[in-house]
Amino acid sequence: MKLTIMTLFKETIDAMLAYSIVGRAKKNNYIAIEAVDIRPFANNKHLQVDDYPYGGGAGMLMMAQPIYDCYQFIKEKSTASSRRVIYVTPQGKVWNQKMAEEFSKEEEIVVLCGHYEGVDQRVIDEIVTDEISIGDYVLTGGELAALVITDSIIRLIPGVLGKEQSFEEESFSDGLLEYPQYTRPAVFRDRKVPDILLSGNHQKIAAYRKEQAIINTFHKRPDLLELADINKSERHFIDDYIKKHCKKGQDVL
Ligand code: ADE
Repeated sequence: MKLTIMTLFKETIDAMLAYSIVGRAKKNNYIAIEAVDIRPFANNKHLQVDDYPYGGGAGMLMMAQPIYDCYQFIKEKSTASSRRVIYVTPQGKVWNQKMAEEFSKEEEIVVLCGHYEGVDQRVIDEIVTDEISIGDYVLTGGELAALVITDSIIRLIPGVLGKEQSFEEESFSDGLLEYPQYTRPAVFRDRKVPDILLSGNHQKIAAYRKEQAIINTFHKRPDLLELADINKSERHFIDDYIKKHCKKGQDVL
C-alpha cells in the first residue's frame, strides 16, 4: 500500500507519521507513506496557493493549479495500476470502519488536505474519487482528518499490528461495540472480574462476551443494533434484556 498526503503542512504530518505504530509500519516496509508539500508546485513568484473566491464571499480558496501539478507529480512517480484520491471535507461521506476495511485493500491512496475556506471545485472534479468527512463538525484544515483516516486504514494492513492481532473481536467488526475487558488483579477496589472469565470454559466465555457486547451496544449506541451481525437467539436475548431492564413505555430503540 502506498499512501500520499497532499498538504500545506508537511511538517505536521511528518511528525505524526514518524511515531508509534505507523512509524514502525513505515520503517518495516508494511506501508509506504509520505506527505508532499503542495506549495512548491505553485507556478507564481511568491508561491501563492490561495486566492479570493469568484462571486465574493468570506475567506480564501486553495487554487486548482498547485494541487493539480502536485497530484501529477505523485502520479508520474507511481507504478500502481489503480489509485483512490480522497479529498477530506465536511461535505464528504462520513468515515466508518467498513470504509477503512475497503480502503485498506487499495494499492494506492492519495489524500488531499484542504485549507482556508475550501478548494477550487475544478481540481476536485478533475482528480478526486472520494470525498470523505470524519464527522459533522468543521476543522481548521484537513490534516487531522487525513491522519484519522490513514491511521484507521494502516492498522488493518496485514503485519502492521503484528501477526497475533485479531480484528474479529474489536468494536464494529460485527456491527457491535466491544465487550468490557479485564486484566489482573482479579479484584480492584472491591470490583471483581466476572467469574465466568476465570472459568476456563471458552465456549461459555465467548457466549458471555457476545451478550456483553450486545448490552454495551444497546446502552451506548442503540442505533448500531438494527444492522448488527446477530443471530435469532441473540435477538431474543436483546428482547428479553429490554423487557427486564427497561421500564414499560420507555422509548428504548
Ligand atoms: N476538513 C474540515 N473539517 C473536516 C471534517 N469534519 N472532516 C474531514 N475534513 C475536514
